[in-house]
Amino acid sequence: MKHTRIIVTHYGGPDALQVVEEERPEPKDGEVRVRVLAAGVSLPDLMAREGFHPETPKVPFTPGWDLVGLVERLGNGVSGFELGQVVAALPISGAYAEYACLPQRELVPVPPGLDPAEAVSLVLNYITAYQMLHRSARVSPGQRVLIHGAAGGVGTALLQLGRLAGLTMYGTCSAPSASVVSDLGGIAIDYRTQDFVQEIHRLTGVGVDVVFDGIGGPHIWRSRRAIRSGGKVVAYGLTSSLQAGRSAPGRGGGRRRFREIRIFALYLAGSWLLPGRKRVVPYSIQWLKRMKPAVFREDLVTLLGLLQQQRIKPLVAQRLPLTEARHAHEVLGKGGLTGKLVLVNN
Ligand SMILES: NC(=O)c1ccc[n+]([C@@H]2O[C@H](COP(=O)([O-])OP(=O)(O)OC[C@H]3O[C@@H](n4cnc5c(N)ncnc54)[C@H](OP(=O)(O)O)[C@@H]3O)[C@@H](O)[C@H]2O)c1
Repeated sequence: MKHTRIIVTHYGGPDALQVVEEERPEPKDGEVRVRVLAAGVSLPDLMAREGFHPETPKVPFTPGWDLVGLVERLGNGVSGFELGQVVAALPISGAYAEYACLPQRELVPVPPGLDPAEAVSLVLNYITAYQMLHRSARVSPGQRVLIHGAAGGVGTALLQLGRLAGLTMYGTCSAPSASVVSDLGGIAIDYRTQDFVQEIHRLTGVGVDVVFDGIGGPHIWRSRRAIRSGGKVVAYGLTSSLQAGRSAPGRGGGRRRFREIRIFALYLAGSWLLPGRKRVVPYSIQWLKRMKPAVFREDLVTLLGLLQQQRIKPLVAQRLPLTEARHAHEVLGKGGLTGKLVLVNN
């Protein structure tokens, strides 16, 4: 039986994404074949397509960090899963497909009745947000935080979880997204027309307790200026390495997994040398998952519970068919979306 899969044929723009039809994969021993219902589209996918994300596979590869799907076939030795059960996973690549085979240890059961597009938003974006809030920054009620890219996938997750944690939140975004940020409990700062460092000092006097910075590069140093003495910047992304969804000019071509991360590390090291009692800590979902898989699973179960209790409500920016993956990358690259872009298989 055939299935559809998206492949990146070369490192570059959205035209590198192609739809292929091929035989469905067979699960190996200990693997489960999942029929993908929803696969997330995120900036790390665009960065891998461009060849510079640290997790970029060799071409040709199927992108897609996160998925929710139905258990469809069990490999030898698999137990504890039933056919038709809904599961979630963070394979890091391979989710843009109708079917994917994954080791059973990667799968987390999803409670019945949840919308697959909302559930998939939890896997990359909400775990990132939850672990940064509660494991990296260890926030407490009443603290003040600044969230960059507050209308984006991770940003809206930070706002919803930050509100549950009782935080006072400021969020940078572009002007059309300001109402989304305020609806989720944040005080919007237009990053295109306002200086966020000045604005934070005007609003708080001393600076915030924590900044969540997914922008990267010299922006990390500016974020550091927005925290109070004793505060923390959690640095977790490379958004500034993309311009309109493409590699920044002069940085294109080939698979260069360590270049951007080296630059990131230099800014991080530089920030440790600057005077003042201010800490900058890096966060990486993939490293936390590899080093502490039980913690990853525990946090995803917690978030699925919050979704089931309707205490969180992921914003789904758009749902597009799998075969429109190229268009999805173009849309995400243009910016201006609020929440998570999802590829769906009906
Ligand atoms: N370390 C980890 O484990 C981890 C996990 C997940 C994601 N990430 C990283 O997190 C970042 C965000 O990912 P995402 O999927 O949430 O992306 P997203 O949905 O595209 O959101 C990014 C947001 O950032 C805004 N933005 C762009 N430039 C900005 C600037 N200079 N200042 C403030 N906001 C700005 C965009 O606003 P406009 O569109 O309105 O311009 C957009 O709302 C990416 O760098 C990604 O690689 C890291």
